[in-house]
Amino acid sequence: MPLFGNENESLKECIARSPMLWRELEEQPSKFRILTGERTTGALHIGHYFGSLKSRVTLQNWGVELFLVLADYQAITDRTSTEMLKESVFEIILDYLAVGIQPEKSTIFCHSMVPSLNQLMLPFLSVVSMAELQRNPTVKDEIALSGTKSVSGLMMTYPVHQAADILYCKGNVVPGGKDQLPHIELTRLIARRINHLYFAGESFFPEPELLLSAPILLGVDGRKMGKSLHNAIYLKMSEDETAKLIKQAKTDSDMHIHYDPVNRPEVANLLRLYSFCTGTEPEILADQIGNSGAAGLKKHLTEAVNEYFRPIRERRNHYRSETALIWNILREGNLKANEIANQTLNDLRKAMHMQYYE
Ligand code: TRP
Repeated sequence: MPLFGNENESLKECIARSPMLWRELEEQPSKFRILTGERTTGALHIGHYFGSLKSRVTLQNWGVELFLVLADYQAITDRTSTEMLKESVFEIILDYLAVGIQPEKSTIFCHSMVPSLNQLMLPFLSVVSMAELQRNPTVKDEIALSGTKSVSGLMMTYPVHQAADILYCKGNVVPGGKDQLPHIELTRLIARRINHLYFAGESFFPEPELLLSAPILLGVDGRKMGKSLHNAIYLKMSEDETAKLIKQAKTDSDMHIHYDPVNRPEVANLLRLYSFCTGTEPEILADQIGNSGAAGLKKHLTEAVNEYFRPIRERRNHYRSETALIWNILREGNLKANEIANQTLNDLRKAMHMQYYE
């Protein structure tokens, strides 16, 4: 199959495979190792929570082994300032603990502190062509979105780095949105080529699958919920800050609330969030609000969001002063990641005839 040849076909396959994969993960958790994570560009918001954090905790609690990468080198693909990295790493670990990630079960590490992981990028780069790098649709979108004329070498090659994130620990499932699909396909291709070249086709590296998560929440302004758009409700926000943000949320002038994602996307988005927090269908919630309009919707929504996130925020506040504990969790995670990465790199270098002496 050509790389990025038919994006829609692979996406369709991925969507079709998803329910089966979920079932296998629940029934045979020990067959899987999950690797996922995020760029360290700031604290996480409730879009991250409902889109991915919540399901990571479910998978963890089923007994699936979880590796979470804080992708600090990937944070500098489109920027050169690094002042915010330390705070971002800290904030994200707090978010993880608050939502129920347990460091005894799940490994939290950052890739800048795992040298062997980074070195894997070199043999990986050698099996990927420039053309393959240049036609990655996610990278192309990100370049277009950034509006820059000068594209960094890291921007063009970070998907290969991401393959190293996944393959150093032989992750075979990667939860992520559909924008991650080109990266996973590239990872599969790298795994296949390395296995073929240096392991006689044996699967030294697995070919990971994307466990697709849908983008489900928009920001309060109706655009994609984003860290830089000031439209996101953060896990770290107080109840008052949450109320203020929801109050400002964009709606429409129709006083009667009903659920119509096509014609009333902003109202539908708020109803969806309300539904996530209460477990009641958005249509039913809309009926309950009826003629009390956007103001009524916002009032109920604020209560529901604050109630849902209260225990999570309490845990977060509790951990916030535990600086030593937080850094220790990262230290332990990095130690474990280094052990695994050293082993993987050594095995690969041996297969590449690069082990020159005992
Ligand atoms: N690219 C991912 C994002 O932008 C972050 C990431 C880095 C990642 N390495 C990864 C995701 C490995 C999954 C697997 O959110």
